[in-house]
This record gives sequence, C-alpha cells and structure tokens, in this order.
Amino acid sequence: MNNHFTRTLVTTALPYANGPVHLGHLAGVYLPADIYVRFKRLQGEDIIHIGGSDEHGVPITITADKEGISPQDVVDRYHRLNLDAFARCGISFDYYGRTSSESHCRTAQEFFQEINAKGVFIKRKERHFFDPETKRFLSDRYVTGTCPICSNPEANGDQCEQCGTHLNPRELIEPRSKLSNKVPELRETLHWYFPLGRFQEQLESYVNSHEGDWRMNVLNYTRTWLKQGLNDRAITRDLHWGIPVPVDSEEARGKVLYVWFDAVLGYISFTREWAERQGRPELWRDYWQNSDCRIIHFIGKDNVVFHTLMFPAILMAWNERRTEGVYSLADNVPASEFMNFEGRKFSKSRNYAVYLGDFLDKFPADTLRYTIAMNYPENKDSDFSWLDFQNRTNGELADTLGNFIKRSIDFTNSKFNGEIPYECTEEDWTSLGIDWQECFEKLDNAYEQFHFRDAAALTMQIARSANRFLTDSEPWRVLKSDPEAAARTMALSVNLCYTLAIAWYPVIPDTANRIYAMLGFSETLDEALKNGTVSWGMARFPRLGKGHKLSAQSEILFRKIDDKDIAPELEKIERLLAEIGKEEVEAQESMHFKPEIRFEDFLNVDLRVATVTACEKVKKTDKLLKLQLKVGSKKRQVLAGIAQSYTPEAIIGKNVILVANLAERKIRGELSQGMILAVEGNDGKLNLVEVDGSGVNGKIVQ
Ligand code: MF3
Ligand code: ZN
Repeated sequence: MNNHFTRTLVTTALPYANGPVHLGHLAGVYLPADIYVRFKRLQGEDIIHIGGSDEHGVPITITADKEGISPQDVVDRYHRLNLDAFARCGISFDYYGRTSSESHCRTAQEFFQEINAKGVFIKRKERHFFDPETKRFLSDRYVTGTCPICSNPEANGDQCEQCGTHLNPRELIEPRSKLSNKVPELRETLHWYFPLGRFQEQLESYVNSHEGDWRMNVLNYTRTWLKQGLNDRAITRDLHWGIPVPVDSEEARGKVLYVWFDAVLGYISFTREWAERQGRPELWRDYWQNSDCRIIHFIGKDNVVFHTLMFPAILMAWNERRTEGVYSLADNVPASEFMNFEGRKFSKSRNYAVYLGDFLDKFPADTLRYTIAMNYPENKDSDFSWLDFQNRTNGELADTLGNFIKRSIDFTNSKFNGEIPYECTEEDWTSLGIDWQECFEKLDNAYEQFHFRDAAALTMQIARSANRFLTDSEPWRVLKSDPEAAARTMALSVNLCYTLAIAWYPVIPDTANRIYAMLGFSETLDEALKNGTVSWGMARFPRLGKGHKLSAQSEILFRKIDDKDIAPELEKIERLLAEIGKEEVEAQESMHFKPEIRFEDFLNVDLRVATVTACEKVKKTDKLLKLQLKVGSKKRQVLAGIAQSYTPEAIIGKNVILVANLAERKIRGELSQGMILAVEGNDGKLNLVEVDGSGVNGKIVQ
C-alpha cells in the first residue's frame, strides 16, 4: 500500500437477491468491510462504502419459475430482506443499490458499447438447446435428462446431483426442457465473448505490482489462472432476465449481458447513484477516476478472479486509447476464506445456515459482530459455533467489558454524585501500565492490514486491563480510609470508559454509542463523529476532566446467554446434521450400480497402461487438456476434462489407464482416441488413476 491516497472507496460483493444473507457472508465480507470503514471514519478520512444487490442471473429466474412469480418479485423480496438485515447489524453502507435499477442498466450498457466500438469483443456462433414450446434458449440449469455416468434420470444440465459429475447439457441422455418437459432442439445462436487473453500482459503486471500487499490466497488464485493462459469468456446469454445487449440489430434480440459482466459494474453505477443523491452528480469521479482514491473490494474467496482479472480487464478495455474518464484499478482485494458453521460448510439448499435476519431476531447485533470478528476467516477457514458465541458473549463482553463499564459508572454515580472527582494527569494515565503508544500502534496496524481478529482481541485486552485495574484498586474498600485514592481510581476508570467507547466503535458500534451516552454526552457517538467532536486519536488520552458529569442512569450492556437460550439452536443443528448424515449414508447405500454385464463384456474393454508424453490446454475451454500418450509402440491423442485439477506440466510422465478400444470421437474439433480413468474427490478435484512400477507401459490392466 502506498500512502498518497486522500480518499477511499470500499465496495462489498453484491449478494444475489435470491436468498437471505447468512452468517458466512457477514463474516467474510460485510463485517470486515464495515469495521474497516468505521475505523477510517473515526480517523477522519474521506471514505465511502458502496454495496447493493446482484439482481440478475439464472438462479433468480429459476426461483421465480419455481414459485410462479416474476424475477422482479424475487429480487424485490430479497433486496428488502437483506438491506434490512444489514441495517439491523450496523453495516453502515453509504449506498446500497440494485442492479435492476435503470441507471445501472445505462452504465452497464455504456461499458458494453464503448468496448464493442473498440472492436474488442469477439462474436461467435454456437449451438445451444432451445425449448420449442416456450421459445426460449435453455441455459444449462434449465435442461434435465439421464446422467451418462450413473443413469440418474433427473440429472441437471450442469451437474448430476447423484454422482456429482459435472456435465455439459449435451452429454445428457434424452434431454428435456425443465420449462415444458419437451425435447429441446439444438439451435444456432450468437454470443459476444470478451477476449481476456488480450489483456494477459497488462493483468500480469497489475497483479505483480501488488506482490507483497495482496493476500497470498488472492495472489495464488489469480496466478493459477494467469499461468493457465486466459480464455475468451462469453459475456452474453440467451435469457429473458437481465440487461439487454445494447446492439441495435436482430442478432442481439432476446440476449442479455452475462450477470458477472453487469454485477461488477454495479460498484460504479451505485457510486454514481450515491453521488446523485449527494446532490453532486460528478462526485463519483473523485472515487473512480482519480488516482488519489484507494479502491478496496471486500469479497469472499469464490469471487477472486472476477475482481482481480475480469473486472480489471473490463476497465482496461474501457481505458484503452482514452485520456479522459480513465478508471482506476483496485488497490487491494481482501478476499476472505470461508467461515463454517458448527464444523460444516453453510448450505442453502440443505437449509444448513443461520440467516442474519433470523439471528438478529434473537440476539443483539454486537454480540454477533464481536464473535464473528474474533473468528474472521482471514487466511484460513474458521468456524462459528453456538457455544463459542455463548462463551464470548458471557465471558468477554458481559463479564469483562460490560462489568467494567457498569461498575465504573455506578460507583461514580453513587459515591461521587455522578461527577468525575479528580483531574487525571499524564502520569496517572501512564501508571495504568498500558503502553498507550504501542497499544495504538498495534491497533492502527491491525486495522490498516485488515487483521480484524487482532484488532478485536487487542481492544478486549484494554478492557481486561481496565477491569483488573478497577478490581485491584478496590475503591469501595478504600473510599473511607483514602477518599483521594478512590477518586483517582474512578476518574481513571471513567476515562477508560471513554477510551473504550471510541476504541470499540469499529467492531461493536451500538455498544460504543451506549457507553458514550452513559458518559453523559448529549450527542450520540455517531453524531459526535460526524460533527468532529470525537476522533480515533482522542481515545489515547484521558479527555474527561474533573467535574465532568455522567448521565444519571447506567445500563446493562450485555445480557448473558443462558444454556436455554441456545438450546433450541443446538437441537436444530443436531436435527439437521442427522438429516444430512442420513442423506449421505443413503447416497452411499443407494449407489446405483450399472446393469450387470457378462464376464466377456468386461473382457471386451481394453484397458492399457499409457504414458503421457506431452500435454497442453485446449484453447478456449476451461476444462479440457489434450494429452499425447504412448501405449507400447502406438501413439494416441486423448482429450480429458481435467484441466481444473491438473496443469499440463504436472501430467507429463505419468502412467495412466487408457480405455484403448473406445470409438474415436471429436471434441471441440479435436480428435480424441480413448479415455483415461480418473476419480472425482469430495472437493470436486479429479484424481487420475495412476500406475507405479517400471516396464508397465502398454500392458493390459486386468
Ligand atoms: N453475487 C455474487 C455472489 O454472491 C457476487 C457479485 S460481486 C460483484 O457470489 F462484484 F459482481 F458485484
Ligand atoms: Zn450421475
């Protein structure tokens, strides 16, 4: 990071308006972004947080079809739901937009047109399934049929749920349209492709320039893609829901922009909408088109390449040959790993999730924010468990922080008339044994480098020291014998409350506001921040002098969580886990074996050990590798869909098993003479079946 920025734009991945956000989303993206933004606001920096709903894409039309409502109804429902849940959780967006807005449509179309006019896109004719009854082209998920691998009659066009195999809809046996149940036809259709490879070098130097400041996971994911060579990506779809392809001719009829092309541009349209709303419609340019502004995208790890390669490439294409209206690229893309839930991945389809809104119906936002901050999945997957939530709330928030604040305020109220009875000096403040200089340096670094777990833990450390100081000083005992000492203790304690109010603001803002109110201020902390009455730097010093008046009432900051409060949640998990376990066992047991064959049939399959002599990626595909094999004295070329599991280099020299007497066929115009055997693992990666040993090449497998 360099420090020449005067402004910051934070964006958070736009959640699909196709379901409620859950705690995993909060942990990976929205909470860390909000913590960062609140910290920067406290520092008085010019920073805005832009987010919104991703309202296009096939899953949304599928939900709409399923429920018999319109896609607009679907996105209206979830946009409202998620916006409301975020607000209740204290996620302080400066603007929360929607990709179904008119202005977003204009921005996205403008991008398409500009890049199209530059001749960057490639147009390609292809054949896709078409439903003759509804007269719609069918995206992969709209086709069903029999799985060619396990004979499941209800396999989806993109994947068979039963055996897990990733499919191309054209591989299905007896394909049917999910819309009409009719047999779909293959029809020719035209699509626009974005040639990512054209920007390979620019992207490489962009990514390399962030070596050292981007997270390792972000660099690694991105470099894996760069290493394999970037393919052309289709950026249009035949779909009735989305942003119309802005080309004025018959060939664009019924086509929309691919959801990812439009979604990332949402960051820009929403910043424009925000600026409009400020009454300064050109203000967005200060954030997007000014090198003074630092752009940061908070996302989850599944979104990395869209933000480190696709979006930058779109902006590069726009910027080409331009001197004005040039967009900046992100300075950082802090992608999180995933937070699991009670040891397992969140799963919407299995309802194995806690939705943010539901959680907040039962427990206060700050208890969640704190627990999640302490489990921020920064460089590895983390876990949310109810027990951890209970322990942190009771032990750390209630017993440490809450207890300290309450005792400080109550004792000052009851014994000193609610007034700070003593003027703290520098020496008093230092005598607390907290190295304030070091403590705040550490905090600054933690926030600056997105180490939010450290930031929360360090802040809890201050509360712990404060609590210990008050307990050890025993003002209630010495009040009679040494009232001066008791007065000093309370003055320090109340000032520590002030420090804690500010220091906790990024992580638990509601609590911070409540502490601030107990300290007797008439503005809320939020207002004070806006008015410039408080700032981050003020937390380090005792600001409240002798005579400062507290508010008359203290309140309990955190209610403890009883076992009975979380018992229903634990039961629910147990039930869900039992169901999932049963499903998994059933899936194992009900494994459909293929129909019985005779021994002679088996002998008819010629399996041979083959050695890979050369291998390369098949251009314009993500999945295919082209292998050259040596089988005894013969040579074979085989296409295998393993490019997402192996790099070409990693395969050369391996002894694999070849189905040697399979009829030849052409795949993507290339000859494939046989198949090689592989097994898919639970992680979706394919594992080649390999043979060790010397002199095995060309031998029959039996
Ligand atoms: N909707 C996508 C997801 O939930 C994220 C879109 S992020 C954006 O995975 F950049 F495209 F907006
Ligand atoms: Zn199958």
